Amino acid sequence: MRKKIIAANWKMNMTCNEAESFLDTFLREVGQEDHVEIVIIPPFTAIAKVSERLGKVQNVKVGAQNMSAQKSGAFTGEISAAMLRELFVRYVVLGHSERRTLFGETDEVVNKKAHAAHEASLKPIVCIGETLEQRDAGKVETVLETQIRGSLAGLSAKELVETVIAYEPVWAIGTGRTASPEQAQQAHAFIRKTLAAISDQSTADKIRIQYGGSVKPENTTSLMSQPDIDGALVGGASLDPRGFAEIVKNSSVD
Ligand code: PGA
Repeated sequence: MRKKIIAANWKMNMTCNEAESFLDTFLREVGQEDHVEIVIIPPFTAIAKVSERLGKVQNVKVGAQNMSAQKSGAFTGEISAAMLRELFVRYVVLGHSERRTLFGETDEVVNKKAHAAHEASLKPIVCIGETLEQRDAGKVETVLETQIRGSLAGLSAKELVETVIAYEPVWAIGTGRTASPEQAQQAHAFIRKTLAAISDQSTADKIRIQYGGSVKPENTTSLMSQPDIDGALVGGASLDPRGFAEIVKNSSVD
């Protein structure tokens, strides 16, 4: 009942020209795959180009990697939800671990942005996940619960259903070290339980929870076959159009 969502987080990669040639190959490879929702998340500068190119492609949406919680004004270097909407952006990644560790984003900041996104009818992809140190100290559940309660505070059930959660263990991002399907499933089940605690079971059952962290074509099927894993947020492996198309194909496991 939850449609899988596979997203390409390009991070600070891809010029407009590179994005165009990626899409030429990717769209040819992936065809009319409609068992899964596909989201391409380019850097801000390539969003207009990607949106234009995807204009008539139904099953591929456009996302952004970040946005401001503010509507407009004197915030040099920031991008608002309305600016993204104008470029047909549907999803926005919030609180990626790189934003949290390199740019000091807290759960409180992520929460403000999540509210601003919903106000503008953008669907947030809210990232959470523990560091290796926290995992080794047995704190996975405490960390996830704090991040969920803090980042999603005050969202209505309707908004929660329109929110995607990305579980990205920090130790698995860009390291080649993937969580095992069992480790990931365990975390996802805990996340869903916590979502039920902050709303109700039927709401929690509708929320999609992506896994992220060294997802590649070879490990997609085993991860996506887990009952609480509803998609993937893919970094490094999403830069190769053929590899990313393979990830999309390998994710239709139901
Ligand atoms: P990775 O990144 O696939 O390169 O590990 C995932 C992410 O940061 O979203």
